[in-house]
Amino acid sequence: MIVLGIETSCDETAVALVQDGRLLGQELATQADLHSLFGGVVPEIASREHLRLLPSLFEALLASTAVAAQDIDVVSVARGPGLLGSLLVGLSFAKGLCLATGAALVGVNHLHAHLLAPGLTTDIPFPCLGLLASGGHTHLYRLDSATSFTLLGRTLDDAAGEAFDKSAKALNLPYPGGRFIDVLGQGAEPDISLFPRPYLDNDNLDFSFSGLKTAVATYVASHPELRLPKLPDPSAPVSLEVLPPGVDRQAVAMVCASLNWAIAETLRVKTERALDRFGCQPGGQSNGQSGGKGDWAALVVAGGVAANRVVRRTMADLADKRGLPLILPSPDLCTDNAAMIAYSGEKLARAGLFHGLDLEAVARGRAVPWDYLSTRSTDRSTG
Ligand code: KG4
Ligand code: ZN
Repeated sequence: MIVLGIETSCDETAVALVQDGRLLGQELATQADLHSLFGGVVPEIASREHLRLLPSLFEALLASTAVAAQDIDVVSVARGPGLLGSLLVGLSFAKGLCLATGAALVGVNHLHAHLLAPGLTTDIPFPCLGLLASGGHTHLYRLDSATSFTLLGRTLDDAAGEAFDKSAKALNLPYPGGRFIDVLGQGAEPDISLFPRPYLDNDNLDFSFSGLKTAVATYVASHPELRLPKLPDPSAPVSLEVLPPGVDRQAVAMVCASLNWAIAETLRVKTERALDRFGCQPGGQSNGQSGGKGDWAALVVAGGVAANRVVRRTMADLADKRGLPLILPSPDLCTDNAAMIAYSGEKLARAGLFHGLDLEAVARGRAVPWDYLSTRSTDRSTG
């Protein structure tokens, strides 16, 4: 089965081909440089860029993989949550291709796809606990299979990636700033009293990073010497070189290390709480509260923030402590890509789950419905 994945939910335009769970090729264009001039994604610009880039990326993908459009069995498209105008560009392209070739259509929940991304290179054992930490979401899920997700905890306001990006903006680092905070904090000792680990003083599995974002902005405002005098070139390699002479490197490094620590620890505490609550004790023994689901088989951590070194280390320590395998995508599969959309689409198609050409996009903040048809609505034999 050859599946085309299309990703246009935010500021990455990407297409990928997956065959029998294996990546044949991917073409990805990031718009980050364009948006970094504005300090965040400008939705109107993002949709126009998707529209401009998608056809040529698709052509390049067919050429590099030697696959013909007619060979594509399933078109899998990210249908949300995301920027509505951007999603519509991907959806229209997907539907047009299905009409032209007779391929089947399947819409994919972008958040679920993030969690399945490591499946491209590693077997994901089920049931597993999935932490998705990206620019727009910080969610905890129970995954019973590649097509069965139960939401256990969710972002109430700002996501972990938003806290990274807005903190980076306060320091005058280019959007998306998480990668800069990651690198600039490397090797420095965090001050664990500097920033709060937000929204832990409760009994739930939800996340709220808005307080942390404000705490960093307030700290930087009262220490203006931390702010870079000039925005570095967003396309320059992410390294210490972005700090111009005269900037107190150690002070910036300490702030970044403290932020990396606060976010990683907040993610760890709620993830550990979910492990406790739903049934896996140190050594893999069930605590009897697993609702009959038995023990967790693994911990999956995905989304752009899962590329962060401190988050990866912290989650590795947690998994180790609990005797669980840790499943982490490679850093390039953590951030938005079309390989994960194609891979998820193949799982859905193999389960007989498809969409019709009336598939709708779902904007950020709205729940993605489980509205699959149990049979494909287009068929090569009829059209
Ligand atoms: O999953 P993703 O590519 O897009 C969304 O679905 O939102 O996540 C993007 C987020 C951004 O906030 C970006 O700053 C953050 O992931 N990010 C990182 C790192 N790489 C990307 N945050 C911290 N450390 C990183 N290395
Ligand atoms: Zn994403």
